[in-house]
Amino acid sequence: MKRVITYGTFDLFHLGHVRLLRRLAALGDELVVGCSTDEFNKLKGKKSVMPFEQRLEILEACRYVAKVIPEREWDQKRGDITREEISVFGMGDDWTGKFDDLKDLCEVVYLPRTEDISTTQLRAEVKRMAEG
Ligand code: CTP
Repeated sequence: MKRVITYGTFDLFHLGHVRLLRRLAALGDELVVGCSTDEFNKLKGKKSVMPFEQRLEILEACRYVAKVIPEREWDQKRGDITREEISVFGMGDDWTGKFDDLKDLCEVVYLPRTEDISTTQLRAEVKRMAEG
């Protein structure tokens, strides 16, 4: 059984998220997603539109995702990789190089992001529309 893991906030679940999860799932048999909690996001200076419970339920409903775990802190990844018996750690390429220290535990891959879509862009677009 080849298991893959990724982490993120996944706020306003969008096509970039779908495509990333689809490609990551195709790298193995099961994809585990670490979904950032609201408290962890606060630590990162981020505030999501959707609360953690909603982002988690949406991820669980995604056909590419086998399991969702909470991401509470930066340093949990090594423990997660061991406990979840992970073979591949993957993120979008905005994170290239950032997690290379995990290479002693599993394969680390960075996949190209989908162009022209992000939670930040969607938030800005909704704001523009609301302002007329
Ligand atoms: N991602 C992607 N393509 C996009 C947007 C995101 O592949 N167009 C990937 C990111 O690289 C990351 C994962 O999706 O590995 C979760 O990203 P997240 O930060 O939740 O989404 P963003 O849309 O990038 O959010 P923000 O604009 O708040 O940074």
